[in-house]
Amino acid sequence: MDRILVTGGAGFIGLNFVHHLVEHTEATVTVLDKLTYAASPEALAELSSDRVELVVGDVADASLVGRLVADHDTVVHFAAESHNDNSLADPSPFVHTNLVGTFTLLEAVRRSGARLHHVSTDEVYGDLELDDPQRFTEQTPYNPSSPYSSTKAGSDLLVRAWVRSFGIHATISNCSNNYGPWQHVEKFIPRQVTNVIDGGRPKLYGAGLNVRDWIHTEDHSSAVLAILERGRSGETYLIGADGERSNLDVVRQILRHVGRPEDDFDHVTDRAGHDLRYAIDSSKIRAELGWEPSYDDFEAGLAATIDWYVEHEAWWRPHKAATEAAYAAKGQ
Ligand code: NAD
Ligand code: DAU
Repeated sequence: MDRILVTGGAGFIGLNFVHHLVEHTEATVTVLDKLTYAASPEALAELSSDRVELVVGDVADASLVGRLVADHDTVVHFAAESHNDNSLADPSPFVHTNLVGTFTLLEAVRRSGARLHHVSTDEVYGDLELDDPQRFTEQTPYNPSSPYSSTKAGSDLLVRAWVRSFGIHATISNCSNNYGPWQHVEKFIPRQVTNVIDGGRPKLYGAGLNVRDWIHTEDHSSAVLAILERGRSGETYLIGADGERSNLDVVRQILRHVGRPEDDFDHVTDRAGHDLRYAIDSSKIRAELGWEPSYDDFEAGLAATIDWYVEHEAWWRPHKAATEAAYAAKGQ
């Protein structure tokens, strides 16, 4: 693991992972990123150019990807279109990046013999009832709901097929909802936090009873590194930090943190096909790889994240008005 190629390494989770690699390993890192609306290359600029190089390009560009993969021993694949609401408005880039992009990478890995880690989501498993005692495990059947989650499910199946049919050296992880610094203001927590900073009201889809299983992005990074260092080839690992909260609870906590009344929010039009609940059983990665999350207090992690958005207004401000205008046009 001397030379690591990180696709999507200028996005929210990818860039936090690149910072984690620089801090916790000796590896040199090449980021391949198309720099879509979701990218924050400025977050990489503070890292030494001796350790991190940014290549701007498309993960579905076979010639570029072939050259880059041939020059690295390890590939970590974060690049994706990641937002469910966008996938309902226009699924096309999701098919391109999540499916064709992953296929392109797999073919390059097949040729070069590099080791691949594919970063995926718990949404491939569909959703759970609020009172279901079961949580998702590595054995849960795939049942994705949205164009986003179906393209991620398809990408996982491609990886599994390339492992079985062509013997590539690959692992997969399926993680729950991340929060932390550098997440785009289109996503739930940054949207509500920046609404509140602007003196506006949080916007809850529907009744707000949907549950997400929150994990700090730093814990996602440490889990992916543990898989790279100790994971078994061909295996899938679920990543989660026992962080189940209803959306309503999260909004109330944000309002409490800034000293506003807990009912100072709006209910808005629900998401089509809105998954009700995600919940991860992460026993396998904990038992096999000895991984544990370090952010075990969601309230403290959320408070630190709110403070981060207060301090980094110059970064998110240019994206806020257009993001809110797009939501308003949909009644959200
Ligand atoms: P993001 O949207 O913040 O970042 C995605 C990055 O990929 C951006 O930098 C973008 O420019 C890049 N990208 C998009 N299309 C590309 C292409 N064709 N070629 C090269 N680069 C391209 O996403 P994120 O939230 O950081 O998610 C990263 C990965 O983690 C995704 O694979 C996602 O499915 C997975 N994941 C996300 C979460 C979450 O809570 N956000 C949870 C589990 C898994
Ligand atoms: O579970 C992992 C997934 O988590 C990742 O695979 C996705 O890439 C990531 O975007 C996230 O998907 P969600 O759809 O769960 O995240 P989002 O931030 O869009 O929404 C979280 C919850 O909040 C969801 O129930 C919808 C709701 N919501 C969202 C927004 C933007 C609101 O109630 N109001 C909002 O304004």
